[in-house]
Amino acid sequence: MEYLTFVVLLWFSWVQFISNSAESSQQPFPTEKLLVLTVATQETDGYRRFMQSADYFNYTVKVLGMGEEWRGGDVGRSIGGGQKVRLLKEAMEGLRDQEDLVVLSVDSYDLIFAGGPEEILRKFQEANHKVLFAAEGLVWPDKRLQDKYPSVRSGKRFLNSGGIIGYAPYVTKIVEQWNLHENDDDQLFYTKIYLDPQQRESLNMTLDHKSQIFQNLNGAIDEVLLKFGTERVRVRNTVYDTLPVVVHGNANTKMYLNYLGNYIPNAWNYERGCGVCDHNMVDLSQLEEYPTVMVGVFIEQPTPFLSQFFQRLATLDYPKHKLNVFVHNNEVYHERHIQKFWEENKDVFNSFKVVGPEENLSQGEARNMGMGLCRKDPGCDYYLSMDADVMLTNRQTLKILIEQNRKIIGPLVTRHGKLWSNFWGALSLDGYYARSEDYIDIVQSKRVGVWNIPYMAHIYLIKGEVLRNELKERKHFVLEKLDPDMALCRHARELTNHREKDSPNPETFHMLRVPKGMFMYITNRHEFGRLISTANFNTSHYNSDLWQIFENPMDWKEKYIHPNYTRIFTENYLEEPCPDVFWFPVFTERACDELVEEMEHYGSWSGGNHEDKRITGGYETVPTDDIHMKQIGYDKEWLHFIREFISPVTLKVFSGYYTKGYAVMNFVVKYTPGRQAYLRPHHDSSTFTINVALNSKGTDFQGGGCRFHRYNCSVDSPRKGWSFMHPGRLTHLHEGLPTTNGTRYIAVSFIDP
Ligand SMILES: *[C@@H]1O[C@H](CO)[C@@H](O)[C@H](O)[C@H]1NC(C)=O
Ligand SMILES: *[C@@H]1O[C@H](CO)[C@@H](O)[C@H](O)[C@H]1NC(C)=O
Ligand SMILES: *[C@@H]1O[C@H](CO)[C@@H](O)[C@H](O)[C@H]1NC(C)=O
Ligand SMILES: *[C@@H]1O[C@H](CO)[C@@H](O)[C@H](O)[C@H]1NC(C)=O
Ligand SMILES: *[C@@H]1O[C@H](CO)[C@@H](O)[C@H](O)[C@H]1NC(C)=O
Ligand SMILES: *[C@@H]1O[C@H](CO)[C@@H](O)[C@H](O)[C@H]1NC(C)=O
Ligand SMILES: *[C@@H]1O[C@H](CO)[C@@H](O)[C@H](O)[C@H]1NC(C)=O
Repeated sequence: MEYLTFVVLLWFSWVQFISNSAESSQQPFPTEKLLVLTVATQETDGYRRFMQSADYFNYTVKVLGMGEEWRGGDVGRSIGGGQKVRLLKEAMEGLRDQEDLVVLSVDSYDLIFAGGPEEILRKFQEANHKVLFAAEGLVWPDKRLQDKYPSVRSGKRFLNSGGIIGYAPYVTKIVEQWNLHENDDDQLFYTKIYLDPQQRESLNMTLDHKSQIFQNLNGAIDEVLLKFGTERVRVRNTVYDTLPVVVHGNANTKMYLNYLGNYIPNAWNYERGCGVCDHNMVDLSQLEEYPTVMVGVFIEQPTPFLSQFFQRLATLDYPKHKLNVFVHNNEVYHERHIQKFWEENKDVFNSFKVVGPEENLSQGEARNMGMGLCRKDPGCDYYLSMDADVMLTNRQTLKILIEQNRKIIGPLVTRHGKLWSNFWGALSLDGYYARSEDYIDIVQSKRVGVWNIPYMAHIYLIKGEVLRNELKERKHFVLEKLDPDMALCRHARELTNHREKDSPNPETFHMLRVPKGMFMYITNRHEFGRLISTANFNTSHYNSDLWQIFENPMDWKEKYIHPNYTRIFTENYLEEPCPDVFWFPVFTERACDELVEEMEHYGSWSGGNHEDKRITGGYETVPTDDIHMKQIGYDKEWLHFIREFISPVTLKVFSGYYTKGYAVMNFVVKYTPGRQAYLRPHHDSSTFTINVALNSKGTDFQGGGCRFHRYNCSVDSPRKGWSFMHPGRLTHLHEGLPTTNGTRYIAVSFIDP
């Protein structure tokens, strides 16, 4: 008992001792004693992101040089940055006497705060120096200085000037030594001071070797991981086991920083999802007038379901008089589809312009042209670029993109059931596809938000003002040998003002090279639609979409399968007009029309003779005037249709019977008074038969129908797109009733012969 008390008491006083000593030696700084100084000459996307993170943590930030022309050279690719030191020197003049002021001087375009002022101040105090520089593992810009650096047992050895923290008087003493040019190198300047042993001691300088405060990503991408918390996300340096506060995408790590910036500090986490998605939204319903949008449509290769594509464009929920449409069609095959759409929708859009294959434009030229139409029209508020393989199933897509209010934003669209999408989460070193850690989660909408990504294609919206400013060059889609979208994205990512690359005057050359890398976003906050496959699209048929049942099953189903088909299973939506004769919707009108067109286009109707070379034995006892699916090369597709859409119905109505979905006789029959008008009573050589009406009684023909003798029962008003399903042998002797006028078409299969 006594012993226990003793231990508890001892423990208690030990704790007290610890906390007392911590308190007395390290009074925490009041956060107002921290001033952030940053240089930014323009409000780039990176600058806004920096300020957003600073505001989130309530930093006091003073921005130096805003609106000034940047003369500090192209930092990140060559030496430069002197302008930053000059601006800091000027700013420090008024602060030199504030002995307890801590100044944090950081870059802004490529930097994010992952923690707050208290933490920085605490860590700065713990470092026990007057000035602390960020550190990195690569010596830059003068490798020869390497040996002059003090060696370190562990941690990064070399100075990086993207982050400096120190007491105002000491920082002043450093920057007041500046007397160089605007485009001289700032890092070299600081390095030389730091490497001078005397100054290093008198100014009490050191480096943040283990990324307590500053994490430079260059050469260290493999050292950092995202660390998700319930409130915030930060990065952890796994080598030093530290949680850096300032994350700096120096040199070639901008894209990686963009990835981290999708999470830290409050952009996205598991608990709350997207924390910044609703920032700066535009409410279209509050606008007096909807913005004017130029829609560029690109048909660069034969593309299935093009009429569906256009139909979806015409039914977007957006005032059509605000839409101007520019179509580049590179395919002669599609001219009739566009013509047809245009005839039916002449007055729908404000304007509709088509540049056809005769113009022989390359894809890049065509895209430059479409974008140019918006750029040169000051009334064009947005440019929506859409490839014809994008099936927008969400009619709100355009509104949603505009409301999200980004310079460039695309809706996530994916290939149905695949991980293939219209964006890349990362780039390989040579600029091609690389998978980011979050790619799959984003594609599968396990992480929902608005994502800053390095590459997107197929569909995106760009603000007109961006085309007239940042992207005012006219040839963004043509760059080296890159495909046009890669060229555009690279231009946007690596934006600089270096239009006058060949400028003879190095001074202007530098002036114009301001990196302003634009952020491109992809949103998956809603479902927008899908990408269809243009591979294996054989355009040698009359209605080639019919053949797409394998390659694009979703779109095939949407176009060709009756909208009430699924209700068969959910609501028992089918009829039984005669015993064991089931009647259900299966094809859309479009499917019926295209199948008939396809047969008429082929044209070789059999004539209804008994001699028939197409079948084994060559003799048909009950011949019809027909064309076999095989003759038009449609047998594989038709059998697949039977397995996918007929077999489930069979299982439902003939419960316990599992069809093999196999059929040799699949054909379209034509009944017309001049040729064959009816079919005498017969059995079918099938276990069961389907018989789909392909046109309409009353409008296309009179008469017709089917009579089942055993039950003295006829169905004499067939419905277009509906199928009968009945047993083929024994019980269901039947006949085709005479078509008295016009032409009647049916599609028939003898299943499980
Ligand atoms: C910033 O200040 C606001 C208002 O004082 C406060 O509500 C918020 O919690 C602060 N943010 C942080 C990260 O401390
Ligand atoms: C740097 O300054 C701290 C006090 O801020 C002091 O404790 C430390 O000894 C100094 N270091 C050197 C190398 O002068
Ligand atoms: C179309 O352009 C290509 C490449 O620009 C060229 O090789 C080809 O001859 C052109 N064809 C016609 C018909 O002008
Ligand atoms: C395209 O279809 C036609 C007609 O059925 C056929 O002759 C041709 O072989 C097909 N082409 C390919 C590449 O499958
Ligand atoms: C589907 O069924 C509903 C209700 O029975 C009907 O109003 C609608 O016209 C049907 N759709 C088609 C395309 O026939
Ligand atoms: C068949 O049904 C019709 C009425 O639908 C009736 O008039 C006729 O007598 C019936 N025939 C037989 C053989 O039952
Ligand atoms: C046959 O159909 C045509 C139109 O397809 C129509 O003009 C004619 O009146 C019809 N004849 C009969 C007897 O219904």
